[in-house]
Amino acid sequence: MQDHIRIRDLPARAGESVTVRGWVMTTRFSGKIGFVVLRDGTGYLQMVISKSEAGQALWETVRQLTQETSVAASGSIRADARSPAGVELALADLQVIGPSADFPITPKEHGTSFLFEHRHLWLRSRRQVAILKVRHEVEQAIRDYYHREGFYLVDSPILTAAQGEAGGMFETEYFDLGKAYLAQTGQLYVEAAAAALGKVYCFGPTFRAEKSKTRRHLTEFWMCEPEVAWYDSNDNMRLQEDFVSYVVGRTLERRREELKELERDTSTLERVTPPFHRISYNDAVAKLKALGGNIEWGQDLGGDEETQLASQFDKPVFVFNYPKEVKAFYMKRNPDDPRTVLNNDCLAPEGYGEIIGGSQREDDYDILLSRIREEKLPEEAYGWYLDLRRYGTFVHSGFGLGLERTVGWICGTPHIREVIAFPRMMHRLWP
Ligand code: 4AD
Ligand code: MG
Repeated sequence: MQDHIRIRDLPARAGESVTVRGWVMTTRFSGKIGFVVLRDGTGYLQMVISKSEAGQALWETVRQLTQETSVAASGSIRADARSPAGVELALADLQVIGPSADFPITPKEHGTSFLFEHRHLWLRSRRQVAILKVRHEVEQAIRDYYHREGFYLVDSPILTAAQGEAGGMFETEYFDLGKAYLAQTGQLYVEAAAAALGKVYCFGPTFRAEKSKTRRHLTEFWMCEPEVAWYDSNDNMRLQEDFVSYVVGRTLERRREELKELERDTSTLERVTPPFHRISYNDAVAKLKALGGNIEWGQDLGGDEETQLASQFDKPVFVFNYPKEVKAFYMKRNPDDPRTVLNNDCLAPEGYGEIIGGSQREDDYDILLSRIREEKLPEEAYGWYLDLRRYGTFVHSGFGLGLERTVGWICGTPHIREVIAFPRMMHRLWP
């Protein structure tokens, strides 16, 4: 398709006269020479103007340009090894399309809350553009990986009648049918789809009405959830390490420039290859105790414990077979130790904590029903889910990878709210 000329395309056009549209980032003048940096989402272009060659009118227009003015700039392209685009543009003409007076986000330091109030404008900054591109790459890598591995994409519903995970749900009235909830997970639905298609995944937004104000929690986040017929818990962990390694490797391969913009030390990412470390919950508790922690067997690992444990390893680590009390009702009872379930969390290094939660699913009708009753969940809402164990039950496993936790780790951002365009948190619903 014929497109407008974008900054990314300019190196191939050295010697030509072109018109480029974009937004002004900075201007700088030294004597009779001026420099304007233009951005258009594909790159950054330095444009040069000389007062003597430009003529008075153009020189004045350029002198008065302000940050984020949108312009159409024309001139000839010449190779310039020192500039970021590899070329610069010698300005011959410039039209202001949309002026921009007093753009709120100046190049000086701003507080986090000011920046999030202006998120719609903040997105234009170099750092945010780099993060958005890494996120894009990670999402595309996820889709490419599952496509290559023969998985079918199944879109699970956002409006649901049943709880998937313990913890808060956003609810709404649903016509004459009572309450509906925003999905916390697509898992129960991809379990049904796995019996139809074998290897499936869903990938979409999920919602948790948790009042947690940590660096790792959003109320709306994206999750990729594969579900595979005939996989046990070990197969499940092998899939996770292969998948995460692919996604990290692909980002390193294609988004070096953005990771550099983010000043990410990539040496720890380079080490992300199978196999990941594996430690049982039992051993993890013993290790944490030896490190001075006061965790007792039976408690879930908190954020600090995850960080401390993960710091013992040089790449991601699986913690497997947790006590059933701290995990969801659908996880398969461990036949070797019924106090525990056949699950795993995957902890990222460098303090990013749990990026994946996964498990083998309970495939025994009676045990699953008794777990639903033990957890006092509304039995009638799980009739269809129990049917999967009534009609041709099957060993199956799956997991959920949190997109923002993963992108936050890859980018090295201090808080995951920066890796989604418009974050939703307890105190943020706008913009
Ligand atoms: O461990 P979770 O709750 O697992 C599930 O939802 C399963 N149904 C997944 C499955 O087996 N199909 O969530 C999975 C991942 C976590 O490891 C974390 O990365 C992310 O989702 N996550 C959150 N990310 C951001 N904000 C939150 N509030 C999150 N809660 C979970
Ligand atoms: Mg979890």
